[in-house]
Amino acid sequence: MQVCFQIQRQSSERAPWVETYRLEANPSITILECLNQIKWEQDGSLAFRKNCRNTICGSCAIRVNGRAALACKETLQEELDRLSASSFTSQSATTESGSIPTFKIQPMQNFPVIKDLVVEMGEFWKNLAQVDPYVSTAGRSIPEREFLQLPSEREALDQVGNCILCGACYSECNSKAAIPEFVGPHALAKAYRVLADTRDNATSARLTDYTRDLSGVWGCTRCFNCNTACPMGVAPLDQITRIKSEILVQTPEPQETRAIRHRRAMVDLVEQGGWIDERRFGLRVLGNRFRDFKGLWSLIPLGIRMLQRGKFPFSFAASEGTSAVRSLIHSIKMRESKSSKPENPS
Ligand code: SF4
Ligand code: SF4
Ligand code: FES
Repeated sequence: MQVCFQIQRQSSERAPWVETYRLEANPSITILECLNQIKWEQDGSLAFRKNCRNTICGSCAIRVNGRAALACKETLQEELDRLSASSFTSQSATTESGSIPTFKIQPMQNFPVIKDLVVEMGEFWKNLAQVDPYVSTAGRSIPEREFLQLPSEREALDQVGNCILCGACYSECNSKAAIPEFVGPHALAKAYRVLADTRDNATSARLTDYTRDLSGVWGCTRCFNCNTACPMGVAPLDQITRIKSEILVQTPEPQETRAIRHRRAMVDLVEQGGWIDERRFGLRVLGNRFRDFKGLWSLIPLGIRMLQRGKFPFSFAASEGTSAVRSLIHSIKMRESKSSKPENPS
């Protein structure tokens, strides 16, 4: 079939522009094979990365029709099926013989572009290094032979171990676009990989590190884009949620940060009343149960404005569905406590 590729080009000498290429291609071939065909037969100056051509190395991640994907994984037909199944209308270019399917190709987002579809990944690797992505056995006497794991302990690492560091999740991450210090979904998925490893004995230092500021798990806005974009099923958001659960279980109340209090207060209040009592929520999160005077002080202007506009909630009525909400929260807590990692022997 005839297809049209609209490729965003970029070079150091000029602003980005879009170049259009038409080619004859079998629907079963991949986007990468089409890019090769364009480069070899039409325009040798087109730059893109590739290596394994088999979903292993992670080099060929680009944006295809508005979302990050591996060029060597997606076939033309799969992409057309995806577009027709989604709410997006597939694009087409008009020719003398009718309209032909069009594929819009761009470099990944959240990375500086070097040339065309090739991006600079230095920050991506630096962010990964920030979570200390190696199993730590420091402070433990080294066994004569190797550290053994049960098959079930090893299986627990399979999902996160599938990460090929392609950058697709990083490209689509809203927090990465908004918070420069946020380490990104790839790094936090790796952070959970080492946290969940029964051979690692740095759990509490890691949890302190990952909860410190918006560079860690609390920088994530839970937009779900990383789970959707990941071509390997790593589901970074699920791993971030697991780290948050570990932090909540292991952090004693007086040492809570505001982000931890926010999460804990929300769950506690919804459990008590079916929905949030906003007066107690503010006092707990910002006031830290009357321990944080600066936080309490910051609530006063808001309280005055609410009083002036007649919006101050003087009373609170529990929701009618409180008992159903409560049992839901209980069952989630039970599941979380069963799946939480056992303490390491040191
Ligand atoms: S869920 Fe969090 S980490 Fe994943 S893409 Fe959204 S903001 Fe980024
Ligand atoms: S988590 Fe998925 S999308 Fe992100 S770098 Fe790893 S394989 Fe790529
Ligand atoms: S070329 Fe290696 S993952 Fe696509």
